[in-house]
Amino acid sequence: MPATYTLIKKDTETAARVGVLQTSHGSIHTPVFMPVGTQATVKTISPEELKDLGAEIILGNTYHLYLRPGHDLVAEAGGLHKFMHWDGPILTDSGGFQVFSLNDLRKISDEGVTFRSHIDGSSHFFTPEKVMEIEMALGADIAMAFDECAPYPCEIKDVQRAVERTATWAARCKEAHRHSYQALFGIVQGGTIRELREKSARDITSLGFPGYAIGGLSVGEPKPLMYQVLDYTVPLLPEDKPRYLMGVGSPDCLVEGVARGIDMFDCVLPTRIARNGTVFVPEGKLVIRNAEYARDFSPIDENCSCYACRNYSRAYIRHLIKCNEVLGIRLTTIHNLHYLVDLMKNIRLAIGENKFGEFRREFFARFKV
Ligand code: GUN
Ligand code: ZN
Repeated sequence: MPATYTLIKKDTETAARVGVLQTSHGSIHTPVFMPVGTQATVKTISPEELKDLGAEIILGNTYHLYLRPGHDLVAEAGGLHKFMHWDGPILTDSGGFQVFSLNDLRKISDEGVTFRSHIDGSSHFFTPEKVMEIEMALGADIAMAFDECAPYPCEIKDVQRAVERTATWAARCKEAHRHSYQALFGIVQGGTIRELREKSARDITSLGFPGYAIGGLSVGEPKPLMYQVLDYTVPLLPEDKPRYLMGVGSPDCLVEGVARGIDMFDCVLPTRIARNGTVFVPEGKLVIRNAEYARDFSPIDENCSCYACRNYSRAYIRHLIKCNEVLGIRLTTIHNLHYLVDLMKNIRLAIGENKFGEFRREFFARFKV
C-alpha cells in the first residue's frame, strides 16, 4: 500500500491542519517531526528508545547509505527497515542536498551530478534514474525525488537553472520509479524568488505526486524571508496531499511552518545540539554544559515526561557530558527528540480544538528564540 494522506481538520485562524499519513509500516499523525537517521541510525539511540519517546517516522539518507554500506548490501539484508531493526515508517532523502552541500568537487549537468565521496574521495555519478534505483533498493515508505538545491544567496539565473533541472529530474524520477508500497514525493525549489517558486510549484504539481516537499529553505536565509516564501508557496500545493518542509527543525520554525500549512519536518538540529550539550526547554535553548548547572539537581524540564527527565538531574547530565561519557549525549538526545515529538502532539491537539492561534501566541510568549 503506497502512502496515502487524509486531511482531518483545518484550523480557522491559520493555515494549520491535522491529518493522517498511512503507510505499510504504520500511520503517521501530522503535523509531524521526523528524527534524522542519516547512517541508518538516529545517532546514539536505539529504535526501541525512538519508539518509546513517540517518534512515528524517521529519515534516512540516500547519499550516505549508497556510499556506505551500499544500497545493494541493505537490499540483501532485506531492506532498510529490517537492516536497522526499525519497523515503523521511513522516508529517504534523495541526496539532492548532501551532494550539493557536502561536496566541493562536484560537477552538475542536465544528465546528473558527478561528485566525490567524503569518505575515500572516489568518484560517483548520480542521475535521477540512479537515485531511484538506490531509493527503491533501500525500500523506505517514502522516497524523495532527486532535486537541485540552489545555495543562498545565489544569482537568479542559477536558481532558475536549478528550478528547470529539478522539474526535468522529477519527471525522470517519476518515470523510473516503480515499487509495490513506496511513495515518491516531488520537491519544489525556487530559492527566495517568488516567480521561480510559482514556476517550480506548477512544474512539480503538474507531474502529480502523492506528496510535496518544499526544498531550498533553511540554507542561510533569514527566518522572516523563509516564512514569506512559505506564505506564497504552500497555497500553490494541493490541499489533499501532505506538505513537507525539508531541513527545518527549530521549535519556533516548526510552529511557524505549521501555521502556514506544513505537515512534515526533519532536521539534524535537535540531535546535533544534544551532542554538544544543548537542550530544548519551554523558554528556549539551555546549555547544560554551563557551570550554572553544576549543582542543579532538578531535571532538564520539571514538566517533561521523557526518560532523561524522569530519572536524571541537570547536574548529573552536565557531569556526564563534561566527562565525555556516552550516556550524557544519549540522555540529551532522548530529551530533545521527546520535546519536539511532544510539541507536535500539542500542536495537533490545539488544531483539533481549533485553538492553534492561541497555542502559537502562548508558545512565543514563553519561548525565546
Ligand atoms: N534537505 C534540506 N533541504 C533540502 C532540499 O532542498 N532538497 C533535498 N533533497 N533535501 C533537503
Ligand atoms: Zn525530558
